[in-house]
Amino acid sequence: MRSDPLSFLSSELDSLKAQGLYRHLRILEGEQKATAIIDHRQVVNLSSNNYLGLTTHPRLRERAREALDRLGVGSGSVRTIAGTMSVHMELEQRLARFKNTEAVVVFQSGFAANAGTVAAVLSKDDVVVSDELNHASIIDGCRLSRAAIKVFPHKDVDAARRVLQELPAAQRKLLITDGVFSMDGDLGALPGLCALAEEFNCIMMVDDAHASGVFGRNGRGTIDHFDMHGRVDIQVGTLSKAIGALGGYVAGSRALIEFLYHRARPFLFSTSHPPAVAAACLAAIDILEDEPAIIERLWENTRFFKAGLQELGFNTGLSESPITPVIVGEGALAMQLSDRLFEEGVFAQGIAFPTVARDKARVRTIVTATHTRDELQFALDVFAKVGRELGLR
Ligand SMILES: Cc1ncc(COP(=O)(O)O)c(C=O)c1O
Repeated sequence: MRSDPLSFLSSELDSLKAQGLYRHLRILEGEQKATAIIDHRQVVNLSSNNYLGLTTHPRLRERAREALDRLGVGSGSVRTIAGTMSVHMELEQRLARFKNTEAVVVFQSGFAANAGTVAAVLSKDDVVVSDELNHASIIDGCRLSRAAIKVFPHKDVDAARRVLQELPAAQRKLLITDGVFSMDGDLGALPGLCALAEEFNCIMMVDDAHASGVFGRNGRGTIDHFDMHGRVDIQVGTLSKAIGALGGYVAGSRALIEFLYHRARPFLFSTSHPPAVAAACLAAIDILEDEPAIIERLWENTRFFKAGLQELGFNTGLSESPITPVIVGEGALAMQLSDRLFEEGVFAQGIAFPTVARDKARVRTIVTATHTRDELQFALDVFAKVGRELGLR
């Protein structure tokens, strides 16, 4: 009888357990809300990307329900065969108007949008110049493209310039950054990088997953926040975070979008969104346009909570967004902090290597527009207690 060819996986898992890095999936029972029931416990939820509370918003539910009743549960095909429904086209046109670009293509996720786009646009003779903390979906897209990958230190525009100076002028180059970095909550160096892209004739791409619905006028993202309109060739957004549903999109020129219709592999080879999801996203854009006060509430909560953590003496890094890390160093310590917070009624996920550097493990907090002051104060009190107990403050 052959021995188990996957036995090495158990050894890997044992090693994670020995390092205190093994995680059980926490189970959300009920809705994704500011206070939620997770693993049978009621907790203040500081771990979702549901920035505006739209996952449970009545207007999204209603539009999704209407689409479900009228159009069914699935699209039944990839976009390029029979899976382009009128609701998908309506969503793309609406997003293009919202982002003020010629066109938009919607993907099944932000991950698919990033990976599919980078891999389609570049090939093995090209170079990608990428911030070291860019999201995994960008890294995977770069690898799939087989382009040479040159990584510059986080937000270091001068270092990116030195990389570009060494490349032949005629070489095709993509300069790429996250708009908001998902683990640190700081903003990409957009103004400096856009200027470099112009100087060195690069394609400029920004992944605005955590900026969509959060930064810029009515949540139009970091390109709007920094007033970089017309200077970013490829803008990626997600529909899975502040928009409250699921999906990703690329906004840009008509030629870019038509090219992606023909060459982006997740678009060509994976079934399109259920119509109810696309319909819910349309309702979310209505809300961004009609109810911008919801975004202001997110920012009021962000300011309150971030200041509270800083006053308690935690290391919150360089965050400029509703994502605020509490950086503790060792992975096992971050997991211990997260576990103790949870026992005391606060869910803030521990994050360790390889998601962040080995000595920068953390718990990551994300506030939403729907947290009440009482919930946030409760969370701060728990942070104070547990932080003292673990010698972190
Ligand atoms: C910076 C960044 N880009 C892209 C994504 C992927 O988005 P989605 O969850 O829609 O696949 C994420 C989500 O984790 C992200 O943090």
